[in-house]
Amino acid sequence: MSHSLLILAGDGIGPEVMQQVIRLLGWFERKRGLKFDITEALCGGSAIDVEGAPISDATMKIAASVDAVLLGAVGGPRWDSLAFDQKPERGLLRLRKELGLFANLRPAMVFEALVDASSLKPDLVRGLDIMILRELTGGVYFGEPRGITTLPDGQKRGVNTQVYTTREIERIARVGFELAAKRNGKVHSVEKANVMESGVLWREVVTQVHQAEFSHIELQHMYADNCAMQLVRNPKQFDVIVTDNLFGDLLSDCAAMLTGSLGMLPSASLGAVGPNGKRPAMYEPVHGSAPDIAGRNIANPLATILSLAMAFRLSFNLPEEARQIEEAVKRVLDSGIRTADIYSDGMAKVSTSTMGEAVLREIDRL
Ligand code: IPM
Ligand code: MG
Repeated sequence: MSHSLLILAGDGIGPEVMQQVIRLLGWFERKRGLKFDITEALCGGSAIDVEGAPISDATMKIAASVDAVLLGAVGGPRWDSLAFDQKPERGLLRLRKELGLFANLRPAMVFEALVDASSLKPDLVRGLDIMILRELTGGVYFGEPRGITTLPDGQKRGVNTQVYTTREIERIARVGFELAAKRNGKVHSVEKANVMESGVLWREVVTQVHQAEFSHIELQHMYADNCAMQLVRNPKQFDVIVTDNLFGDLLSDCAAMLTGSLGMLPSASLGAVGPNGKRPAMYEPVHGSAPDIAGRNIANPLATILSLAMAFRLSFNLPEEARQIEEAVKRVLDSGIRTADIYSDGMAKVSTSTMGEAVLREIDRL
């Protein structure tokens, strides 16, 4: 049986970090007899340059047919002056929307070896392991009406709409409770029910799903501003945080930084299981395209490598191999090997490709 994969390396450091993942896939083919059916295509600024759009219809078609999409990163200053609806980010948003990837899992965990890289005191973050579950296809990112119009007096007016339906809230709430059931049994549902009707509905629906199906899980409601504060005050109080698209965008960046490096964090975006039994899925590092360091072979490939581990676990049903990738990463860090972003005194500073080799070497030893 072969696992089909669409690789969209994207822009900036995307191609360099993705190269390390391709090597790892090759290793699993050679050493473990796994088979991957890999297609590579363009997304983001590189797709704009070559194909005239941030993602082509042909690429979208492949994305919809594979077991998993693996994305590097998109965007960069070269495309900043393009019209809003032609920017590289639109490729990413199109993938999310058209594949129906409503559940975005953003784990924030602290590797023991990197506990000092956090801006918080080591005791606050040691052993941290939380999951931000962000709703990814609704809310203000996609709500209508939206746009900029000109008023009769010549002023302009910019509008976006925050909107959620019962069904959208139910399905993300379920994913949150299911995740918590496999973790530490605690969900914080985060909104602004004190000022937004969409938040009032969110709280109501999450409470109903909890009572009807998941009363064995602990549920707490929390306002988004308080959640931001609690994340930096005492992050270990959380297990799973389930929240909307915009709050999830903000809170996941905040949670990511608790771990000390954006270069370490993977993510998964999942859809609903279709009639063919397949669940659309895309995996990507949380970090961006980092144009300032692109092409220099110094970026950290570990977030992308850990994203592959998530794909192994959630799309390919290869939990043991996923665990091995994670264990290899842990051992590399324990051995003092660091890319520049996580470097500290006394460690060995290595390039992107040397970090990729180090992971291969460790996994070979397992
Ligand atoms: C993210 C990013 C994206 C978002 C951008 C690049 C469109 O910040 O995935 O968190 O806002 O969702
Ligand atoms: Mg973001």
